Amino acid sequence: MRPIRIALTKGRLEKNTVALLEKAGYDCESVKSKGRKLILPLGNENIEIVLAKAADVITYVEHGVCDIGVVGKDTILEYGGTFYEILDLGFGQCKFALAAKKDTDLYAGFENKVIATKYPNVTKHFFDKKGMDIGIVKIEGSVELAPLLELADAIVDIVETGSTLRENGLEVKEDVCTISARMIINTASMKLRKDEIDAFVKRVEEQL
Ligand code: PRP
Repeated sequence: MRPIRIALTKGRLEKNTVALLEKAGYDCESVKSKGRKLILPLGNENIEIVLAKAADVITYVEHGVCDIGVVGKDTILEYGGTFYEILDLGFGQCKFALAAKKDTDLYAGFENKVIATKYPNVTKHFFDKKGMDIGIVKIEGSVELAPLLELADAIVDIVETGSTLRENGLEVKEDVCTISARMIINTASMKLRKDEIDAFVKRVEEQL
């Protein structure tokens, strides 16, 4: 049988995930000195780490080619999917917020507001709950530019330290929800490889 595969979100969550796995006693040398390699064995365990972009972590876990995933709640809320979300890993803490230029009153006037975001589903859900019609413009990165360039009235984006907003004359108007890294499990793997997955989850959970 192939090793248990853990899809790990590259970038922001990577360092914390590796630190957590090391605390749980896993040898992460291969991940720390990975170079450009994307699939890495975890010491002598029958486990492989697969490094992927956040949304792809969900895709690989949903399709069962990876059994376990580490991914932000932001990605889970935006893309959804069928899997078990079993642990809040505690790191990668930030929030989704509605932000705009300091002098903007988003509830003034009758015209529909335009919201720029990398997260159109999260944004739509947030405004649907308010019963507010809005237009959404999908932006791929540095969403803060959209209100500055007057393409949008506001943004829904991730706020961590708040410095990107501050340094660009924007401010949080409303919090949408909090976010942190989660562990997800493929539904079939949870049954078919229960013992291996339980053992892994237990070792990690003890360190939280
Ligand atoms: C995220 C987010 C904000 C920034 C917030 O972008 O979209 O731009 O971080 O962080 P702060 O509150 O600590 O300033 P990221 O750096 O992931 O890059 P991206 O815009 O290219 O997606």
